[in-house]
Amino acid sequence: MKASVHMRQHKLALCRDHYLEWIPEQTERFIKKYEMFRREERVLVAVSGGKDSLSLWDILHRLGYQADGLYIGLGIDGGVGYSDESHRLSEKFASENGLRLHVVDVAKEYGQPIPILAEMSHRGQGRPCAVCGLAKRHIMNRIARDLGYDVLATGHNLDDEAAVLFGNTLQWSGNFLRRQSPALRESPGLARKVKPLCRFYEREMAAYALLRGIEYIYEECPFAEGATSIYYKELLNRLETDKPGSKLIFYLRFLEARETGLFAPAPEEAANLHPCPNCGQPTSTDDLCSFCRMIEKLKTV
Ligand code: AMP
Ligand code: FES
Ligand code: ZN
Repeated sequence: MKASVHMRQHKLALCRDHYLEWIPEQTERFIKKYEMFRREERVLVAVSGGKDSLSLWDILHRLGYQADGLYIGLGIDGGVGYSDESHRLSEKFASENGLRLHVVDVAKEYGQPIPILAEMSHRGQGRPCAVCGLAKRHIMNRIARDLGYDVLATGHNLDDEAAVLFGNTLQWSGNFLRRQSPALRESPGLARKVKPLCRFYEREMAAYALLRGIEYIYEECPFAEGATSIYYKELLNRLETDKPGSKLIFYLRFLEARETGLFAPAPEEAANLHPCPNCGQPTSTDDLCSFCRMIEKLKTV
């Protein structure tokens, strides 16, 4: 049979049917290797309507895990109806596969959509991404905890993880390097977080979504244009073109270094965290966490 997907970095070429078997098999291997979750545990998959998170949901469902979805309506239009379209595609995937999707609409729950919340809070110099990230992390944690899920899974792929690692390494950000992991254990107020696709290249996930016939949103978030993470991805892609496999090696060697204890957490870090008096999620201040502080401040505007 003719090969459909060529993976130079693995020196492997597979036909459609074998590729569609290979991806879930590898995912299962990563779930076990990094002790992400067990078969009897309930998984909440954060779905953005993009190829990675919808493919992740599809893979976990095919592997027989109990996985529900969570879509967060950010209220981003960007001239292309970005949030409406990603919501529609997430709902479509859920109903076609008989899966359960929870939806949290930021504007309904917190009064304003993300771009307005960001403007009102004067964070992030004209770009709503920092406020958006803060809100997404907060909401994912809240829903996972309130609805009793054992673990929260996101669709981060190798390109995402390598770009974050590259940024953290350029700055030698010890705190971020320590926390960058395929599986972060739960801690008081925080759900366990896993990234089962972290070892797949972005193009491998695009091929999976395409061959599985998953309809996903092609557009990136309109605010992503010009982001540093995209610049890092371009740099790493240039390196990958010249030296196939280097992105994977960069990330895997980092994970191995983690295992040897090179990035062990400093004991004082955990000791300095307190539960936020409003939402219970950990914060390093004695007062409200950054998310609750932002929402409180907006009430006075
Ligand atoms: P991003 O931060 O946009 O690169 O997305 C990384 C991961 O976060 C995605 O693969 C999803 O698992 C999750 N995610 C991003 N946006 C949303 C959203 N609006 N609702 C739920 N999960 C999301
Ligand atoms: Fe949040 Fe772009 S600003 S997804
Ligand atoms: Zn809080």
